[in-house]
Amino acid sequence: MVPTASAARTRLRARLYNGGMNLPELHTLIWDELCRGASPARSPFTIWQLATVGLDGAPQLRSIVLREANISAGTLCFHTDLRSPKLAELRADGRVAMLAVDLDRHLQLRLNGVAQVVQDATRIRGMWTGSRPHTLILYKTPHAPGTPIAQPEEGHVREQDRGDGFENFALVEVRLERIEWLDLTPNQHRRARFERGQVPWQGQWIAP
Ligand SMILES: Cc1cc2nc3c(=O)[nH]c(=O)nc-3n(C[C@H](O)[C@H](O)[C@H](O)COP(=O)(O)O)c2cc1C
Repeated sequence: MVPTASAARTRLRARLYNGGMNLPELHTLIWDELCRGASPARSPFTIWQLATVGLDGAPQLRSIVLREANISAGTLCFHTDLRSPKLAELRADGRVAMLAVDLDRHLQLRLNGVAQVVQDATRIRGMWTGSRPHTLILYKTPHAPGTPIAQPEEGHVREQDRGDGFENFALVEVRLERIEWLDLTPNQHRRARFERGQVPWQGQWIAP
């Protein structure tokens, strides 16, 4: 019987914990985690802390939902409001850091990359139409994120006041430059770094 891809992955994952995992195999497993995080099934790697360089040079941090992970391009995608402060920051300096943690598995993924606002109209429309309506409500509000309002209720948009929202919808793609994996499983601390180089994704074990 030909083993299925998922059976091969299960065996690979078992090797991670039983020893013998090499760096290219670990790299494959990390991208599995990123793809699962971006899937509708969700995982601890669905919500990420995204750090940008603020317009005043101070660090800025917020949560985002991972929407796409593309192993062959080495990119991740999230969506956001075109009017949000983070977009002005990304346009001024695209460098980002991202971090997410799986508490149950003592696992941390820490990423660095360069973000760009996607310009491909077909791709943006595809992401918009493929998103769940409750996700898109945020883009239908007349208030730009961060606008001062007198009462919290002013931030709730009444059905009749909702715009289409698509005009506020932006897709951001992060081209990863560095991936760092840290496993703090008791008695098995391990850490590895992968950097995009001339040979794509050069891996290195490093001290935890
Ligand atoms: C669970 C969770 C998921 C979020 N996902 C996103 C997201 O995918 N995109 C986004 O722009 N903001 C998202 N936010 C809101 C941001 O964390 C942030 O408050 C907002 O985008 C404004 O950020 P800014 O002022 O840095 O632009 C999320 C917040 C939470 C709590």
